[in-house]
Amino acid sequence: MKLTSEEKKMLEGKCGKATREAMEIIVALGEIYGAKKLIPVSSVQVAGVSYANLGEAGLDYLKAIADAGGKVRVLTTLNPAGMDVENWKTLGIKEDFAEKQKRVLDAFRRMDITVTCTCTPYLIGNLPRFGESIAWSESSAVCFANSVLGAKTNREGGPSALAAALTGKTAEYGLHLNENRQAQVVVEVKTKLDGTRDWGELGYAIGKKIGNKIPFITGVKKASIEELKSFSASIATYGGTALFHIKGITPNKTRKPSGEKIVITDVGMIEARMALNDDVPDGLVDFVAVGCPHASIKEIEEIARMVSGKKVKAEFWVTTARATKNTADTMGYTKTIEEAGGKFACDTCMVVAPLKGRFKVLATDSAKACYYARGKNEFKTKFGAMKECVQAAIEGKWIIE
Ligand code: F3S
Repeated sequence: MKLTSEEKKMLEGKCGKATREAMEIIVALGEIYGAKKLIPVSSVQVAGVSYANLGEAGLDYLKAIADAGGKVRVLTTLNPAGMDVENWKTLGIKEDFAEKQKRVLDAFRRMDITVTCTCTPYLIGNLPRFGESIAWSESSAVCFANSVLGAKTNREGGPSALAAALTGKTAEYGLHLNENRQAQVVVEVKTKLDGTRDWGELGYAIGKKIGNKIPFITGVKKASIEELKSFSASIATYGGTALFHIKGITPNKTRKPSGEKIVITDVGMIEARMALNDDVPDGLVDFVAVGCPHASIKEIEEIARMVSGKKVKAEFWVTTARATKNTADTMGYTKTIEEAGGKFACDTCMVVAPLKGRFKVLATDSAKACYYARGKNEFKTKFGAMKECVQAAIEGKWIIE
């Protein structure tokens, strides 16, 4: 692989130990994937932030980079942590976990990473332009950035994203190359889509059929940002794809593939909904969490309207970026939701927080959250529209079957 003089200097350790080790990772990846050169990235999103996933070994790794003077060279934002950094006690997080999580965030801060702790960086200021090369981890954000924004990123892991941040470079392979961004399978949608639930179901239905292929989706008339973020999370979780094209909606150019074609009808959507809903005794729900991926201000406004003047019976979390919550504070949405008994969980989410054993049944409007709630936390799940989830929080019961 051809390296510039600046890249060689980094590799030789002339820019410090942390940069050298990061450059070794970038070069090794480039060699594995047959890249001819490295390219600059304009932004990075680093996942692997929760102490629940990192453990002591992960914390030591991050501290060592910070202690060695590692500093990021481009705008770098962080995925959710294992707790709300301000409100962790109210959310039932234990003191020793909080202390470890703070040390993780401190290590990232020392590297000059912007401690955003959100999986929707594109809603709060890390918004790459069409065609820009970036290095993002977090599968839902990767899928959104590639597909909706038209930026270019591979599906990075936490360490490779961090290495890109410390060097400002990534190897040019995979989805950085236009020839690898072409659609591979046509998906015809013959069902009406309205709201994040429907788009979550669609992601499930398509993902299960196509795996990590790139779809060219037809038959969709409109899609909001909230629906596209729901879809990005769902298709990336259930299929593994990092890029989709929707005719008339997404900005990337692609050849329409010939050959394989998949049709999604009402039946496929109902099957998806059934698969995401478990049988639950008497429909009882003890935990409702919305905002996966992290809620937008528009979603929070809707939630505030729905809970205004009511009281919730189940534990009810709205997960979002702190910057978005600050706007909700200004608008009075936070007050309305908290007066109803709801809780904001900023900087974290129902998946990366250490919640195993605390609840039995999660109700959510996120198909992705269902996957991890079952697999990681062993919860049963109820999946529906935002208004069905809010209703479940108020009744403590899933009443729409
Ligand atoms: Fe974000 Fe957590 Fe969902 S990181 S995409 S809210 S699982």
